[in-house]
Amino acid sequence: MLERFGDYQLITKIATGGMAEIYLAKHVNSPVTSMPIAIKRILRQHNANSAFIKMFLAEARIICNLTHDHIVKIYDFGRHDDIYYIAMDYVFGQNLGQLLKKYEQKGKTLPLDLILETADAVLEGLDFAHNARDRNGHFLNIVHLDMNPNNILLSYDGRIKLVDFGIAHAAYTQSLDRDLKSVQGTYGYLSPEQCLEQPVDRRSDLFSFGIILYEMVSGKPLFKHMESDAAILHAIVRAPIPDVRSVNPVVPRELAAIIMKALQKDRDKRYASAAEMLADIRRFRSMREFDPQAETLPIILKREFAAHFIKMTQIIEKAQTAYLMDEIFKDIGEIEEVNLAEKIRFSEVEGASERRDDEEEEADPAPRKSWLLPLIIGATALFLVAGGIALYFLLFSQSETVEVFVSSLPPEADIFVDGRDAGAKTPASLRLIKGRTYIFGFHKGDLAAEIPFVPGKDAEHNKVFVKLRPKEQ
Ligand SMILES: Nc1ncnc2c1ncn2[C@@H]1O[C@H](COP(=O)(O)OP(=O)(O)O)[C@@H](O)[C@H]1O
Ligand SMILES: [Mg+2]
Repeated sequence: MLERFGDYQLITKIATGGMAEIYLAKHVNSPVTSMPIAIKRILRQHNANSAFIKMFLAEARIICNLTHDHIVKIYDFGRHDDIYYIAMDYVFGQNLGQLLKKYEQKGKTLPLDLILETADAVLEGLDFAHNARDRNGHFLNIVHLDMNPNNILLSYDGRIKLVDFGIAHAAYTQSLDRDLKSVQGTYGYLSPEQCLEQPVDRRSDLFSFGIILYEMVSGKPLFKHMESDAAILHAIVRAPIPDVRSVNPVVPRELAAIIMKALQKDRDKRYASAAEMLADIRRFRSMREFDPQAETLPIILKREFAAHFIKMTQIIEKAQTAYLMDEIFKDIGEIEEVNLAEKIRFSEVEGASERRDDEEEEADPAPRKSWLLPLIIGATALFLVAGGIALYFLLFSQSETVEVFVSSLPPEADIFVDGRDAGAKTPASLRLIKGRTYIFGFHKGDLAAEIPFVPGKDAEHNKVFVKLRPKEQ
């Protein structure tokens, strides 16, 4: 574990950006359910940069006003030890940039259904941000301005969220220093108006998202790969963009038309709003046949990032358990302060006659109360100690068990371990004893598979992937 930072315990670093670091953290006093949290904090060397601090706080103020399923939620922001920070929902997953890189390396594109689902979520989130008002009803005029794949977060349980309104343009930021606002954002995903440092509006985000969609359907970045920033800027502002179907002919015509419309250099020719673009995406989605075999986001992410999924699950579980333990031992600590003499007196009284008990009550009711309290505390202590010990054994006595990630094609198969139903469907992670031989069975409708497996100590090798075949008649 890392250091304590204000009300937060930092657990592990997730990312380091140009100006800030992102940590997985937990609130030291919060219930377990609010775990885990992500803390974004400014790198110490930027503390003196007041223009940057203003921008960082503007980000916090902007997202504070945004509560939406597809925008990362913020809990708190402020300063501790002279370091500015934002505390937000931790999205347990990967960013779209990391997923695209995996697919681009394999020369593959993501399943079309997933691309459309992402477009739907992102455009909904963007439209919400673009139209947001503050608590007093004032239109905020938000433009994200840094729409790039790393700012689209994908969670292992299938959620899609926008982050990093760090350079967002809004009513709040209009008074910021000019030089901070000039060409920012991620080269390769800028709009022509950003490159030219012209005034921007919401349509700038639609162009940038057009670049992302183009990359998703073609399997290659549109501008990012170019040799220099100048070449990128030139291409965005001047070079004609080839129809995406000339790069990947299997892209459906209707979808290609949506992407090319978002990528118009003249913003008057683009969609006027994210909602308008979203309507076209939804029209196209509704025309498509539902494919029940299509791989879903959780399946893809857990397969592509199995080691990360397992490692982070363990880190989060451990942090949560540590929290539980702290709570339990906190109570036990209080109980140790109970006067032992009182406990002894109490047991003496228990053996005494009823009459004496009554007499005592008449004479002095107060001592009885003081025996009752240790009784309750003592019983609670016993209960907590027993619970703590049970929990401890449950969690730590399994040092010989390891996490095994099990997936199948097609997914959603029932998993059997040594002939017994494991009560889980693929993909799943199971805790198994290291070095023991297991026979895994998989059943889904008429399909099945069976393989032996011996869990090892290395997470990379504790992955089981099987292709189901028709059951023998
Ligand atoms: N709330 C979060 N939950 C999980 N990961 C996050 C979260 N916020 C950021 N990240 C990860 O950290 C990276 C950088 O965060 P970001 O806010 O975009 O900072 P920067 O301004 O440096 O780009 C993101 O691309 C993402 O991978
Ligand atoms: Mg970012």
